[in-house]
Amino acid sequence: MTDFTASRLAGLETSAIRTMTRLAIQHGAINMAQGLPDFEPHPAILAAACEAIRAGHNQYSVTWGLPALREAIAQTFHRLYNYFYNPETQITVTCGVSEGIVLALLSIINPGDEVIVIEPLHENYLPGITFAQGKPVFVRLKPPSYRLDPAELAAAFSDRTKAIIVNTPHNPTGRVLDREELGAIATLCHKFDAVAITDEIYDRLTFDGRPHIPLATLDGMGDRTLTIGGLGKSLAVTGWRLGYVCTSPAMSEAVRKLHDFTTICAPTPLQHAAVAALGLPDAFFEQQRREYEGRRDRIFRLLQQAGFGVQPPEGAYYLMSDFSQLGFEGDDWAFTKYLTETVGIAVVPGSAFYATPGLGQEEVRWAFAKRPETLDGVEQRLRQWIK
Ligand SMILES: Cc1ncc(COP(=O)(O)O)c(C=O)c1O
Repeated sequence: MTDFTASRLAGLETSAIRTMTRLAIQHGAINMAQGLPDFEPHPAILAAACEAIRAGHNQYSVTWGLPALREAIAQTFHRLYNYFYNPETQITVTCGVSEGIVLALLSIINPGDEVIVIEPLHENYLPGITFAQGKPVFVRLKPPSYRLDPAELAAAFSDRTKAIIVNTPHNPTGRVLDREELGAIATLCHKFDAVAITDEIYDRLTFDGRPHIPLATLDGMGDRTLTIGGLGKSLAVTGWRLGYVCTSPAMSEAVRKLHDFTTICAPTPLQHAAVAALGLPDAFFEQQRREYEGRRDRIFRLLQQAGFGVQPPEGAYYLMSDFSQLGFEGDDWAFTKYLTETVGIAVVPGSAFYATPGLGQEEVRWAFAKRPETLDGVEQRLRQWIK
């Protein structure tokens, strides 16, 4: 039989994260692999979603996003970061950040354009670059500090560079890029006339008083940045598929064309609920941040006691750990399989976050958006294992 699949898909792997979730279910393991909360969202958000459905908001809505939601996104961004996007011309609501990233890439990348990607990376970026027929160029955040090395960054830029993808707070390391690192990116974007695509899905989840700084707010970066954010993580509604792309009117127009002809609009009733969600008081986000800090502290201690090499994450809800001191014979996939089948905890192999062969083979990622009871289970199983 002829292979009917398109050649552009050659080399694309299925998601390692979702593979681990399937393995977790198969072996009854605690799922610390996939980045989703195992607790309920705020009740007011759930009520707003049910209310929107009952009130008849069940048909297509304005393609770019409900006006009230775009207005709420603009106001929230302005209040938090003192930067204004015009909701009429600069904000597009998408079906999650994943769609936003792919649309951003398809909007600006011509075949052969280079896109700088920071490793370790979120698994959605390379497929997006492949769809756009771009060429990835990698810069690495090295353990244990995972800081961006300015010399390495500068070496990646050239006249062929069209864009850089910047994710902060960072999945999987938990790094929150500081003003110096972001400044280095901005300087190079100006020098090489490149665009920044920022993935800021964890912007409301930074710890220990660290600020999240959107790259667009740095001098002159507003019109050369596509700022992508979403509600899934900060409001514990990953299944609602709500994201947004904020950028210049010209790039917004390109994003909107693609969005129109791929998904038409994000789910209408959930957009109504999102307006309510963005209206939740700051106290809710502060409390949530403290709860995440508590989870971060707990998983950090547990893994340190179990002998993993760890750094406390500065934001997001992941911890990248080094298992090389545990005396395990085998790579990250073998270790992950062992941990799932024998210890009863599923995590993600580190190499899933690298495109460069050989990297991440001594690392595994833990997602800690979990209830105390789930973390109790992790603690028991880890103690049982190391005793
Ligand atoms: C850095 C990052 N970007 C994007 C996504 C996907 O976002 P969404 O569910 O809104 O498509 C995730 C999900 O884990 C993520 O960690």
